[in-house]
Amino acid sequence: MNKKGFIFDLDGVIVDTAKYHFLAWQQLAKGLDINFTEEENEQLKGVSRVRSLEKILAWGNKTISQDLFNELMSKKNEEYLSYIAEMDESEILPDVPRVLNTLKAQNQPISLGSASKNARIILDRVHLKSSFDAIVDGNDVTKAKPDPEVFLIAAKEINIKPEDCIVFEDSVAGVTAANAANMISIGIGSKDVLGHATYVFNDFTEISDDFIKSLIEN
Ligand code: BG6
Ligand code: MG
Repeated sequence: MNKKGFIFDLDGVIVDTAKYHFLAWQQLAKGLDINFTEEENEQLKGVSRVRSLEKILAWGNKTISQDLFNELMSKKNEEYLSYIAEMDESEILPDVPRVLNTLKAQNQPISLGSASKNARIILDRVHLKSSFDAIVDGNDVTKAKPDPEVFLIAAKEINIKPEDCIVFEDSVAGVTAANAANMISIGIGSKDVLGHATYVFNDFTEISDDFIKSLIEN
């Protein structure tokens, strides 16, 4: 049987943590008197913690000291951690377990490729750690998405060539990173936002087992 590498982003693909990132950033922006919209939040998906704060400050025309910057980064993460501490399996997005099980049944290697430094905590909370043959996250990279580094490492860890990998992503930066890695990109979300992906589905309920099998065979 053919072997392909299946690489999953975490936030917004496996679990709906995007809403918690948004709440935590919104709280922080409010404290700085910055108006932070959902459209702006869309541009932060897949973007590292440091880069996200830099972008919010730039949108609000604020310059702050390095000390305050570091303090705000910790505060944001504390707030975010308080949300994810409550997470359980019920927050796994619909049909993600089915797709993971289909891949497992077909002996396909599966990697995580996430920008988050909290990825392992979240996978633990939702009991999905054992579904992954490799976990690559924000602690393992020097260059954040849209740089392809995270996906290239994720492919290497499962011994699959980049051109034989398929990436599931919900963010603009992540789809760009997957394309730059020369992988097939599957956007999870709206076509209006993720039009640069090879395929786009609203969510995993639209991804049939037959489609997964066609990805393996082609
Ligand atoms: C990405 C999220 O997966 O991880 C971003 O889409 C987030 O919103 C980034 O900023 C970094 O996450 P963390 O958990 O390290 O702050
Ligand atoms: Mg994401």
